Amino acid sequence: MPTFVQYLYILAAGLFILSLKWMNSPASARRGVFAGEIGMLLAIVGTFLAFDVHNWSWIVAAFVIGTAVGIPIAYMMPMTAVPQRTALSHACGALAAALVGTAEFYQRQPTASKDLHGFIIVALVIETLLGYLTFTGSLMAMGKLQEILPQRPITYRNQNTVNFVLFAIALGLAVRLVLVPTDTWIFPVFAALSLLFGVLLIIPIGGADMPTVIAILNSYAGLSACAMGFALNSRLLIVAGALDGSSGLILSIIMCKAMNRSFTNVLFGAFGQIQTSSAKQEQRNVRSASPEEAAQILEAATSVIIVPGYGLAVAQAQHKIRELFDNLTRRGVDVKFGIHPVAGRMPGHMNVLLAEADIPYDRLVEMDEINGEFPQCDVALVIGANDVTNPKARTDKGSPIYGMPILDVDRAHTVMVIKRSMSPGFAGIDNDLYYMDKTLMLFGDAKGFVSEIVKELPARMAA
Ligand code: TAP
Repeated sequence: MPTFVQYLYILAAGLFILSLKWMNSPASARRGVFAGEIGMLLAIVGTFLAFDVHNWSWIVAAFVIGTAVGIPIAYMMPMTAVPQRTALSHACGALAAALVGTAEFYQRQPTASKDLHGFIIVALVIETLLGYLTFTGSLMAMGKLQEILPQRPITYRNQNTVNFVLFAIALGLAVRLVLVPTDTWIFPVFAALSLLFGVLLIIPIGGADMPTVIAILNSYAGLSACAMGFALNSRLLIVAGALDGSSGLILSIIMCKAMNRSFTNVLFGAFGQIQTSSAKQEQRNVRSASPEEAAQILEAATSVIIVPGYGLAVAQAQHKIRELFDNLTRRGVDVKFGIHPVAGRMPGHMNVLLAEADIPYDRLVEMDEINGEFPQCDVALVIGANDVTNPKARTDKGSPIYGMPILDVDRAHTVMVIKRSMSPGFAGIDNDLYYMDKTLMLFGDAKGFVSEIVKELPARMAA
């Protein structure tokens, strides 16, 4: 490989690392995406230059089709559907890795003794196993999130045993393939079992856990690409795959911690149980208020913490919230946003939405930091958030969210909650916050209600 291509690869790998680093904060996230894109461009250009490409037509066709599909998806997919879109991307990436592994296996057959020995065949087997199981697993995850498949866990008797036996057979075949790579009949059986295992691994997991599962599948896809790097002797692929694999794993651990779930609980916890999404509603009284009353309370406050949740994404209320933020800030009110790590339906969901409305990053405060401020805060304004504010997580050992760290909105002087009804959120449980004396329910769509408040504020000022 020419030396300058190696330099291109080193540059690309450096940009991938910087990309991950910069994506760590909303302030530098755009730069991070850009760095990743440039890194990928350099990697592609370097690969074209390093190898003698005999036939460009397939490459051009793939490029045209990929662009034609990718651009509309990026522009037209609503923010609420990003988790399933991510699952689809992982499925495509994993399938690509598995197909490259398959092609390499058959291409090297005639010279198997030289080209399919020891380490190479081990890498190819890992690549195809992870690639194929991630492909079908990601499609199942996408189907569940898009509600094409039932969201509830699909379970049957001895499911664990069946999965374990299947995996053991696949592993046995993998070992045989490593020992006798010329036994070509094994490969298609091994690939089919990997595909089947991906389906069986994901169907018993409830739709609720799919975002975490997607992060885990992301990690598998990365490890598959890393193994492909070893098989093809591509250092860049090894680095990129390892980065993908480890960052996916770290992300899933962060998500599990934020939801107070263990890794095994996510992957195997739903076995044998049916999740209920709508728990019985308790008949308790709540106090509600109009936009005018809410505006009155907000304008009298000196400090307001806005707590956004999934309802903000559904209502697409971020631009109206920006107007409210500007209005209150102009009046000298100190407005901050309390960000829970798993508010919404994907990591960073709230950051992305609020960044879309250009809300200053320094106003977005992480949960651990903002929690100390609630007792001094005049108003906590909860917008479309539910589970992440439920005090039951602290006190009710029987609750499915017990132990999940929450935003301490109940410690603010006054709490106002914008949501359309008393329906529960993601965890399907009632929220004690709504029944507290200090809480006012502002019933309505988040965008509509915030816009009513914004209309009321100048009107009140003029009066
Ligand atoms: P949720 O607990 O799901 O509550 C969202 C609330 O928004 C609902 O109670 C809903 O009530 C309200 N809502 C929906 N549409 C609305 C609209 N148009 N206008 C106003 N309100 C609306 O959301 P959360 O508090 O953000 O918590 C996130 C949950 O998702 C947690 O349980 C978390 O564990 C889970 N989860 C998150 C992730 C990630 S990575 N973020 C991954 C997996 C699971 P109404 O229907 O009454 O309006």
